[in-house]
Amino acid sequence: MKWNQPSPSDQQHYPPREIFAAGLRHHHIANTAYPINHNWTMKPYRVRRQDFEAITAASWQDITEMGLYIHIPFCQARCNFCEYTVINPADNARSEDGYFELLLRELAHYQSLIHTQKKILTGFDIGGGTPALAKVEHIAQVVEAAQAAFQFQPGMQISIETTPLIAANEPEKIMAFRQMGIERISMGVQVTQLSLAKKLGRQYKGFEGLREAVRNIRAAGFEKFNIDLMYGFAGQSVEDWRDSVEKGIELEADYITLYRMRYRGTGLQAQAAQVSKEVITEMAVAGNQLLHEAGYAAPPGKNTYSRLPGDVGTSDYLTNRVVKGTPYLGLGLGAQSLSHNTLAYNRGAGPKSITPYEQALQTGQLPIQDLYDMPLAVSMAKMISVSFYFGEINLTHFREKFGVTLESQFPAEVEFVLAEGLMEYRGDCLSLTPAGAKVYNGVIALFYAPAVKLHLLQRPIDLGERMSAQWQRELRRSFEVKLIA
Ligand SMILES: C[S@@+](CC[C@H](N)C(=O)[O-])C[C@H]1O[C@@H](n2cnc3c(N)ncnc32)[C@H](O)[C@@H]1O
Ligand code: SF4
Repeated sequence: MKWNQPSPSDQQHYPPREIFAAGLRHHHIANTAYPINHNWTMKPYRVRRQDFEAITAASWQDITEMGLYIHIPFCQARCNFCEYTVINPADNARSEDGYFELLLRELAHYQSLIHTQKKILTGFDIGGGTPALAKVEHIAQVVEAAQAAFQFQPGMQISIETTPLIAANEPEKIMAFRQMGIERISMGVQVTQLSLAKKLGRQYKGFEGLREAVRNIRAAGFEKFNIDLMYGFAGQSVEDWRDSVEKGIELEADYITLYRMRYRGTGLQAQAAQVSKEVITEMAVAGNQLLHEAGYAAPPGKNTYSRLPGDVGTSDYLTNRVVKGTPYLGLGLGAQSLSHNTLAYNRGAGPKSITPYEQALQTGQLPIQDLYDMPLAVSMAKMISVSFYFGEINLTHFREKFGVTLESQFPAEVEFVLAEGLMEYRGDCLSLTPAGAKVYNGVIALFYAPAVKLHLLQRPIDLGERMSAQWQRELRRSFEVKLIA
């Protein structure tokens, strides 16, 4: 693999304890969504527009196994907490047919550029937005187009997302998804309090509506069924949260994924300051305890809990990304693609409009907004950040992907996490301990590329990141870190 040259900012070393503290200080952004502050940290690696085709073709050349993600940017209503690329729902009806044509055009472009027929798909997610809002024939079209373009690894599972409202009201649609070979379905529940759901701009018909949705999903034959629940909202008490988790458990999904609210860039950004790190941690601990008591398992730090033995609960697409760092192609508005050495973002994520994406495809160009040609340190940081979805770094797959051991690349950091009891060796993984899971924002930052570490060190603390004096004292006592100067 030919890696890009690291910039001077990406050749520095910083003391692990200081980086750990910086990650904790900036706990709203030090998470699995990596990199941070592209405009500065990734600037040296930006590819010129005229080189998009050539660099993309070269970066996919030697890849045989990959994932596919297709983004559907339509929702019935836009929830104000949502961080995803979703267009104005008023434009859905007139945009849908044209959007699916564009998706197929984008796929055809990659088909000839990177020779997809030689690639083996090991995972395929149809996400959004709300893909279940689209017409059944449109979803069938993209599934068939993917089948024609790629080789599907035998047993590879396709996953799709729905809202409870669609699953409750349109059983025939849910049935059609299953019949076209989609095996896993994920439904956003988020919260179960009517008043909170309303404040979040969320369409919610009460618990009976959720039950109806689940009945339809099961009747369609889905045996891999996930629900999402969210915590860390302003105005959500720990009791509300416990109640949502308990109601979620009553729905008897196979998997339950808990999302901590990420405020950055959402309609609720200004409310971040109302939620303290302590309450967030209390909620995470309570959710973890309730789920374990109900027979749902997850190692420390992992957000998807599964009650099926031997089944990690995430889609094949996500599991392979997390465990193996498998490259993936993202098609559609604002979608992200990752080869071993390139990271690309499609047009449309900022303006949440189809127009710039459409313009590129209509003139025969790749609809990419930004393409980065990464050095080794950035690619490693990207793989490791994503692996924290499962709370652990798979050492075998790290070595297979990069040809070097984790310990050789991060000697001081590995020594620090082991000495502080934040991570431990488990099987062929370096895994978060329960203590490490509570402060994972600090742990994950240790493996970021140096320029991103510097950004965290220099970044002023913002309102949403305030921590109580007690929490700071506790961290100082446990880890000798000084959070706020
Ligand atoms: C792309 S959404 C699809 C789900 C479906 N549209 C729904 O809302 O029912 C996937 C999940 O991301 C989570 N999510 C959305 N915005 C988030 C945010 N700002 N921070 C953390 N998780 C978020 C929600 O739990 C949501 O169910
Ligand atoms: S949470 Fe789901 S339904 Fe709400 S805006 Fe985001 S993608 Fe759409």
